[in-house]
Amino acid sequence: MDFWSSALYDDRHGFVSSYGEGVMKLLSPKEGERILDVGCGTGDLANEIDKNGASIIGIDRSTNMVQEAQNKYPHLTFHTMDVYDMDFHNEFDAVFSNATLHWITKPKKALEKLYQSLHSDGRFVVEFGGKGNVQNIRQAIEKSYQTLFPNYDRLEEPWYFPSIGEYTTLMEEAGFTVGYARYFTRPTLLDGEAGLKNWILMFAAGMLAQLNDDEKEQLVKHVEQVLKPTLYRDHQWIADYCRIQVIGYKK
Ligand code: BEZ
Repeated sequence: MDFWSSALYDDRHGFVSSYGEGVMKLLSPKEGERILDVGCGTGDLANEIDKNGASIIGIDRSTNMVQEAQNKYPHLTFHTMDVYDMDFHNEFDAVFSNATLHWITKPKKALEKLYQSLHSDGRFVVEFGGKGNVQNIRQAIEKSYQTLFPNYDRLEEPWYFPSIGEYTTLMEEAGFTVGYARYFTRPTLLDGEAGLKNWILMFAAGMLAQLNDDEKEQLVKHVEQVLKPTLYRDHQWIADYCRIQVIGYKK
């Protein structure tokens, strides 16, 4: 089931691509390079990479996202594809990814595929949620869910938020030479009064699929009450994002 709405993503969560500018600078795409964008969403960063003269292929496991990317940027190449199913061999100068790898809960398997897709001297340049990412929001969802629906099955988070130590170790085990690693907090403004609600309904949709619409509404209200003292200022919600950025090389 595809829980991703490309319209909601572009309309309410445009910050995902705009915050990608930092990792784009780390990538620094060059004319003529072949680059793979893993988790391309609706294609905005792939388009930026293309503007630098590199040749880009975007993949995303959401068909909705890939269709929208293709509508927006018909001159670029996008495929619906799961990281685990990638079958590229020594093809790319760089593998790039922004705000995606925290959805990949089998990182070892993914890193093997990502490494395999680079040619030697290729680079792997990524940013995603690190240890403690959206911790307040996650705890509030868990607490509210247990309070409101004590007899329902336990929630299972679909995310992986590693520390730098953990992730760079896995990178080295996959064969990468780690050249750069950074961890930082990045409080992230969620657009408007309904920002937190929109975030939960979009990004926690899979985890909350067993709730009907009324139950989701109750849960969101409860989470908003719990988080108002900490994450709400001047009519805006601010999510407690933590990022890791890493660069690895295939020697
Ligand atoms: C993130 O970009 O950090 C994120 C997005 C959706 C769910 C969890 C984390």
